[in-house]
Amino acid sequence: MSTPSLLILPGDGIGPEVMAEVRKIIDWYGTNQGLTFDVSEDLVGGAAYDAHGTPLHDDTMAKAQEVDAVLLGAVGGPKYDALDFSDKPERGLLRLRKEMDLYANLRPAQCFDALADFSSLKKDVISGLDVMIVRELTSGIYFGEPRGIIKEGNERVGVNTQRYTECEINRVARSAFELAMRRDKKLCSMDKANVMESGVLWREVVTEAAKNYPDVKLSHMYADAGAMQLTRWPKQFDVIVTDNLFGDLLSDLAAMLTGSLGMLPSASLGAPMANDRPKALYEPVHGAAPDIVGQGKANPIASILSFAMALRYSFDRGTDADRLETAIKAVLAQGLRTADLLVTEGVTPVSTTEMGDAIIGALDASL
Ligand code: IPM
Ligand code: MG
Repeated sequence: MSTPSLLILPGDGIGPEVMAEVRKIIDWYGTNQGLTFDVSEDLVGGAAYDAHGTPLHDDTMAKAQEVDAVLLGAVGGPKYDALDFSDKPERGLLRLRKEMDLYANLRPAQCFDALADFSSLKKDVISGLDVMIVRELTSGIYFGEPRGIIKEGNERVGVNTQRYTECEINRVARSAFELAMRRDKKLCSMDKANVMESGVLWREVVTEAAKNYPDVKLSHMYADAGAMQLTRWPKQFDVIVTDNLFGDLLSDLAAMLTGSLGMLPSASLGAPMANDRPKALYEPVHGAAPDIVGQGKANPIASILSFAMALRYSFDRGTDADRLETAIKAVLAQGLRTADLLVTEGVTPVSTTEMGDAIIGALDASL
């Protein structure tokens, strides 16, 4: 089998800092587990705009289509706030999602034991939490037409369109059911079928898809009630499936239940390629965090866990992913904490690179 390929797009802000730690982990697997990747690196977001005047160069887009998996850091920053909508760093990321057709965005919200005190919710509400949000990522109001700011008489009107085809709903629903089959076999679909026609169709198509998964217990919730239930008793959920916009909101909410955005990975998956691997992009849930750039404060764990998801979902290396996740838990249990996690007494503050090195140490110790 040919060497699997990875394209690393560090992007902006703390992206390059955290991706440098991911590279150490990738190298560790090459040296110690015979798992060698053909790694290339390129620009995205503001970094690409500075170099090429576009947040994603066509050559980079073409490369992303060819590799086995893309690992992205973060995009955005105040420097780019005044740019035209089409030049903004975020457009680079949205183009990757759309053109690679990465329709299923997996956002796990897991509570690490060592960090259970860190949540703003009571410990018994979140300890042991393990929820997977599956967010539709290539359609809905993010991409629907018509869109724009138009003129009506003397006033301007902002227009966006929520639009879902049956096929778009069905394919993301199937991804969510498949995941539920491998977990606790519970799926909750969230929509606004009480207000939106797209929500009515969403509910119908998900219910139809359930016929192929008789072992999965399907429930439906309105997305607003879902947000309330996620904060009230999040452990009632196993897998949640929802549309692009609700998924954006609910995944931030779920992420913060666990204490820190700096801990959470994500996988964006599309249809299988010729080699049977899904088109895939892995990225931390957190953003570019311009306020802490270059200070060694960034937490590399979300990006490193995103690589663990790549091992699991793109390369069928579940055991290697387990090893990496165990190493991260060990390091947290030792009390090592990057700046985003520093609240309790008796912990050891570490920098971004020290955290990466400590995880390498824990991997070494696992051999
Ligand atoms: C996310 C982010 C993006 C989104 C932005 C950066 C375009 O918030 O991945 O959740 O809205 O999808
Ligand atoms: Mg978001």
